[in-house]
Amino acid sequence: IDREQVSGALLRWYDRAARVLPWRVGPAERAAGVVPDPYRVWLSEVMLQQTTVATVKAYFHRFTTRWPTVEALAAAQDAEVMAEWAGLGYYARARNLIACARAVAAQGGFPDTLDGLRALPGIGAYTAASVAAIAFDRSETVVDGNVERVVARLFAVRDPMPKSKPMLARLAARLTPLERPGDFAQAMMDLGATVCTPRTPRCDDCPLAGFCEAQAQGIAAELPVKTAK
Ligand code: ADE
Repeated sequence: IDREQVSGALLRWYDRAARVLPWRVGPAERAAGVVPDPYRVWLSEVMLQQTTVATVKAYFHRFTTRWPTVEALAAAQDAEVMAEWAGLGYYARARNLIACARAVAAQGGFPDTLDGLRALPGIGAYTAASVAAIAFDRSETVVDGNVERVVARLFAVRDPMPKSKPMLARLAARLTPLERPGDFAQAMMDLGATVCTPRTPRCDDCPLAGFCEAQAQGIAAELPVKTAK
């Protein structure tokens, strides 16, 4: 599978089919020179790790209305932030959110590298990669469950999850382009959420169907295999 061909086909699809999301700078705006706000990218990615897009929309709107910048969030009382977080669950994440906002404010803004982001409190591999790619155009690979499914199908990986996770991450990294890595990351997640869906993938509408080994073998809906719990 050729990186330029796959990422090119995916980005052309994203240019016409990207979901419109409150934290997203869409492909047309991006092309017109609008740059993403790292604070909004970071906040949305932290929220999206545990909650659906539909639920996050309302929380994201309330948070960014009340605290429009990371400095504003850093200056909030812990209890105010915890109260606004209520309903999202995983309260350790809200504690980490506050700690991270304060660290970022203290150092004058978000670091723009994977390692710099990774060093912030409460930022793991997923959040660091997503902010680096989406906010700072770093060629980093974002891997969530959607991306794992897309990649497992593209390469017809039959090894079960979660054992196959490191391999799927390596395969995803091999597809990540040097140009538009943030749009590529968001396109992979959109594809997994809207086309390459778990039970009944819509392969007829997939921009990557022609590259997809699972589609060729007629086993897309069977992948990824999961070991019995
Ligand atoms: N899920 C988590 N982050 C996302 C993003 N940036 N775009 C689409 N889906 C997502």
